[in-house]
Amino acid sequence: MRKHIVAGNWKMNTLPAEGVELAKGVAAGCAAVPASVNLIVCPPFTHLSQVAEALKGSAIAVGAQNCAAEAKGAYTGEVAASMIAALGCKYVILGHSERRQYYGETSETLNKKMEQAYANDLTPIYCVGENLDEREAGKHFEVVKAQIEEVVYNLTAEQFAKLVIAYEPVWAIGTGKTATAEQAQEIHAYIRQVLAAKFGAAAAECPILYGGSCKPSNAAEIFAKEDVDGGLIGGAALKAEDFLAIGNGFAE
Ligand code: PGA
Repeated sequence: MRKHIVAGNWKMNTLPAEGVELAKGVAAGCAAVPASVNLIVCPPFTHLSQVAEALKGSAIAVGAQNCAAEAKGAYTGEVAASMIAALGCKYVILGHSERRQYYGETSETLNKKMEQAYANDLTPIYCVGENLDEREAGKHFEVVKAQIEEVVYNLTAEQFAKLVIAYEPVWAIGTGKTATAEQAQEIHAYIRQVLAAKFGAAAAECPILYGGSCKPSNAAEIFAKEDVDGGLIGGAALKAEDFLAIGNGFAE
């Protein structure tokens, strides 16, 4: 059976003390979430360390929201994957649409970031997804296919076995608009097919998360779909109660 994952992408929110409080709130309530659901929180770099410390001994894993494309050196302002791993983080979100859109991340950069993540034992949560124009033009399949072929296809079978994918339609991120459960299932199944074309049967094991205005009221319906293995949660991850309620969207 595929892993079930609910990951919180806190984006550029919370000061350190608030982040620690939020993480503690998640830890305090996580016993109510089915044990089969892997919970991950991804705070800003500045308090990764404190959040990781606060979650020590809990079942909740910590991830970063990005990492540098290079291993180390004269790259002012960048944070290396090795630094993230040294804090006890296990995951790193890569290729989020906000990084692609606002910071010009290309497949070329993302290939390097993926290598850095794997070299430091971090599991990448690789994001794909189309924007509104692309969806309206019916190009969503080809957009996600290219995002996968240009990056994921470069992984070895061993690396692919650790990968998590997040499908996040850009038009649904932070907009309150959610893809319908049917739309999510349709494209998740397609993504799995694209993965299978390269990695064969291993594609059946790859967790594919849905992201984009996922909240307690719609999570269960989306997570019930066959090819949806959890969620990457933005806004609703900033309240422990909502994040945990989303984790509860999985029927036991
Ligand atoms: P949202 O963000 O849940 O606030 O729409 C999801 C994401 O960007 O990861």
